[in-house]
Amino acid sequence: MTTPTLTRYVWDDRIKVGLPLIDSQHRELIEAINDLADAIESHQGAVAVKKLIAFLKGYAEWHFGQEESCAFRHQCPLAETNQKAHARFLAMLNEWHREYTESGGSEEQARRIHAALGDWLVDHIYKIDTMLAQEIRQAQSSQS
Ligand SMILES: [Fe+2]
Repeated sequence: MTTPTLTRYVWDDRIKVGLPLIDSQHRELIEAINDLADAIESHQGAVAVKKLIAFLKGYAEWHFGQEESCAFRHQCPLAETNQKAHARFLAMLNEWHREYTESGGSEEQARRIHAALGDWLVDHIYKIDTMLAQEIRQAQSSQS
């Protein structure tokens, strides 16, 4: 049986939120998730995979913080929903990172983490961030 090719996630208009800073951070995250796929498929090993997961954890946490403070500053109705979704995701990501590290890291596990990360992010951007960004833009235009 051949191993299926990992998904490469694409940043496109469907998940564009229209706020340049947030969009560029989302692109960065998607790129890092694709880098993880490259590392897994080119068999770079558990140390390289762990490093990429750790980077993703740090970057996601930083990005979420940026997005959350922007949403609260603009008193967005979705600010809290977004924050809770981020917190749940970070808790999951920490758990996966811990499991991966403690078990020595199998390729199968890395593949599952990659898919879960990418699927969650794209779905979250599509379902929450696009609407949140709309609220931010509305608040910005009513201020000016
Ligand atoms: Fe978000």
